Amino acid sequence: MLPDQFSRGDNDDLMIEGVSVAEVAERFGTPTYVYSRAAIESAFGALTEAFGDRAHRICYAVKANSNIGILGLLARLGAGFDIVSIGELERVRAAGGDPAVVVFSGVGKSADEIRRALDAGIGCLNVESEAELDRIAAIATEMSRTAPISLRVNPDVDARTHPYISTGLKDNKFGIAIDEALSLYERAHAHPALEVIGIDCHIGSQLTDVSPFAAAAERVMKLAHQLAERGIRLKHLDLGGGLGIRYTDEQPPAAADWIEAIRSVVDADPLGRDLPIWIEPGRFLVGPAGALVTRVEYLKPGSHKSFAIVDAAMNDLMRPALYGSDMAIVPAAKGTGTRSQDTWEIVGPICETGDFLGHERSLELGEGDLLAVLAAGAYGFSMASNYNTRPRAAEVLVDGGACHEIRRREPLDSLWALERLPPLGR
Ligand code: LLP
Repeated sequence: MLPDQFSRGDNDDLMIEGVSVAEVAERFGTPTYVYSRAAIESAFGALTEAFGDRAHRICYAVKANSNIGILGLLARLGAGFDIVSIGELERVRAAGGDPAVVVFSGVGKSADEIRRALDAGIGCLNVESEAELDRIAAIATEMSRTAPISLRVNPDVDARTHPYISTGLKDNKFGIAIDEALSLYERAHAHPALEVIGIDCHIGSQLTDVSPFAAAAERVMKLAHQLAERGIRLKHLDLGGGLGIRYTDEQPPAAADWIEAIRSVVDADPLGRDLPIWIEPGRFLVGPAGALVTRVEYLKPGSHKSFAIVDAAMNDLMRPALYGSDMAIVPAAKGTGTRSQDTWEIVGPICETGDFLGHERSLELGEGDLLAVLAAGAYGFSMASNYNTRPRAAEVLVDGGACHEIRRREPLDSLWALERLPPLGR
């Protein structure tokens, strides 16, 4: 099953919004990330529709795909943004986004980042520790500013996802233990340079069940009541991101199911009903909209294992190597080489055994074929590296019949442009 906006055309070629992947590869080379504008807009639309006229803000998690072309598109749709570094804030600004609708998450904000965020007029700092709260208070005081803050609480809810992307358990480094949040809120409330505006939580990523979201919302509401009893009035609840997508055979909840799970808790509560709900989705908005297009360089059939060596590698797409993620890989266009049906290990040119995009894929392949790794729009390019001195891939946004190159392939010499030969003398 292909994601929305992906289809099959003549000769079974893979098409995105009616543009053939072969044409994209011809024009921009491979490996290339291709994204569908319509798919991103429809994912955003599904969330907006699920909220209806209920007050909300969709803060796109920039880390999922931080290309300014994508950020600009989301800004136009009315998204806010969730960032984790000042670099991401500068990207949002470069894309025309407004810092006032940006929330700044992350456990390690530096003094410089806090200063720059306050100076830019950041919407909210999501504070992840007591030490960070103290630092923000000191910097805001020194700048004669009031810092808008939420505490990111750790609700100790099991998101039942990959351990590396589970964040809401008390074992994880994220957030402030929910039992300790109350006293910290009281301190923040009493500080003249801090303005408490919300509660934040994010329990993990790629969740395929909505019940942990509801459980986290319940704990957050309980805390909101305790705060109200102490005269601390919130202006929003930020319930994080994390909605999963389909990579192979997952059955993730629909956008409406996610929002309903949250609203069934928050809207059922007289205190919650009037509070705007903010969410921080990344993967759901851009994941299914993107594919990594790669060409088969060589086939190496064998009696034990058969390898298809493609021109994309773990530096382009780390998810399979890093998390063992299973991502669908489908034929996109046929090359001219002799074709053979086999069970292939789809591997890249990097000198590591961990350099694979997929294991045991039953495909008919020939040299020069194009393949597409699906649902690669999130945490694909944004996690890419230059390992093995490989320039990062081009990125193309397909919009109706048009293709826009939103990032050109890195020129080779740019990879060492910042390096210098030291004066070695003798
Ligand atoms: N908010 C916060 C505070 C986060 O840390 C994250 C993701 C999100 C929102 C967005 O979560 P999403 O809606 O995209 O699930 N590289 C991993 C995923 C890491 C997620 C990190 N935090 C992967 O490729 O699966």
